[in-house]
Amino acid sequence: MSSKAELHFDGGSVTLPMVEGSEGERAIVIENLRAETGLITLDPGYANTGSCESRITFIDGEQGILRYRGYPIEHLAERCTFLEVSYLLMFGELPTQQQLDRFSGSIINHTMIHEDFRLFYRALPKDAHPMAACSAMVAALATFYPDSLDPRNPREVEISIHRLIAKLPTIAAYAYKHSIGQPFMYPDNQLSYVGNFLRLMFSTPCESFEVDPVVEKAIDLLLILHADHEQNCSTSTVRIVGSSHANLFAAISAGINALWGPRHGGANQEVIEMLQAISEAGLSVREFVERAKSSDDTSRLMGFGHRVYKNFDPRAKIIKKACYDVLQRLGVQNKLLEIAVELEELALKDDYFVERKLYPNVDFYSGVIYTAIGTPDNMFTPMFAIGRLPGWIAQWLEMHEQRQKIGRPRQVYQGEKTREITPIAGR
Ligand code: ACO
Repeated sequence: MSSKAELHFDGGSVTLPMVEGSEGERAIVIENLRAETGLITLDPGYANTGSCESRITFIDGEQGILRYRGYPIEHLAERCTFLEVSYLLMFGELPTQQQLDRFSGSIINHTMIHEDFRLFYRALPKDAHPMAACSAMVAALATFYPDSLDPRNPREVEISIHRLIAKLPTIAAYAYKHSIGQPFMYPDNQLSYVGNFLRLMFSTPCESFEVDPVVEKAIDLLLILHADHEQNCSTSTVRIVGSSHANLFAAISAGINALWGPRHGGANQEVIEMLQAISEAGLSVREFVERAKSSDDTSRLMGFGHRVYKNFDPRAKIIKKACYDVLQRLGVQNKLLEIAVELEELALKDDYFVERKLYPNVDFYSGVIYTAIGTPDNMFTPMFAIGRLPGWIAQWLEMHEQRQKIGRPRQVYQGEKTREITPIAGR
């Protein structure tokens, strides 16, 4: 098998080395291309560009395969908890019982936020989107913890990691509590990671609160399924911000902003809004599908399509099954699930979607579960962020271990050539 590639271009040729990944994917290494030829490559959207070599997550988009550190997502979803999976992603191996106890103990002990930090929320309008609040609050953690900001100090990094994983659910839940004018609850260290989050979101000081184990398990599963997805938009953002040696809080805050976009994690909110709109407007599902196909209409079928998966998204399969289980166990009849199933069936038979290899993605069914347990639409993406956090951290750690250069793509300039300024009176 060749380990070199020949590139012929107007005016010359160059031999380029190749690398092969552990699952057989091959890449042409162009690190020295510009130095050797004066040329660069042009790949807007980076669909053909590997930004790094990574040992964390493997995806085969054609076969619908997703593995974290070699473990199939289906097995992790069935047999592990979110904190175990977080440990796996960040530190490379599943924890022993002792390692897990130590890790979860530390996380549980850091869930409170500084009392003064709670005052930040008062400055926000009630209708502030919780993603904006989460990104601002995560960036602001750097102001409270200047003792753990050095990305080259392993102890400081470890402290920041624990603080982030512990505090993001509290930060997200407080954004919600602020929006509805309810008092902020304190974390309860007796509860599990997810149980504690549910309490922060849904309990009040006036009533006792029991964590529903069905809901707790469903959310834990969703967090596992969202935990990493190699070099997607938000992860690449975290890596590129981190490559400037910005602190971990700054890099994660940037990742939260990238995730917010409707073409990325923000799609989960848009899916449920789309299903609600179909339901409320009494639109037929066929009519809606036709609109999503039309080039005159900019609306897309949200929760459909993926840059990498061109067969099926394995996470969507697991979530669809979980959707039925949760709704049945909670005894909830959900019109939105019926619409979603009809939409999926219709789209999967439609030439437009078949030809473009568009399948339901992770966001298509997750919102139905969130809605069934009473989560407001605008909290779906923050919950995605809580899930994705260990993946972002794992990728940030790996980027530093690899001593990656600062991320700085080039461009092909197509603007004006040098010109003279005309004095303002003559323009
Ligand atoms: N509905 C209708 N048409 C679509 C959809 C969709 N959901 N997705 C892609 N297409 C069409 C495009 O219009 C384009 O058609 P054309 O070739 O006739 O111009 C073709 O399929 C290819 O689309 P691109 O946008 O070029 O594909 P890309 O790989 O860049 O985009 C993306 C992937 C952003 C996920 C896209 O499929 C999309 O916008 N989906 C809806 C939003 C969504 O669900 N995002 C969540 C993704 S999962 C995640 O980030 C967690």
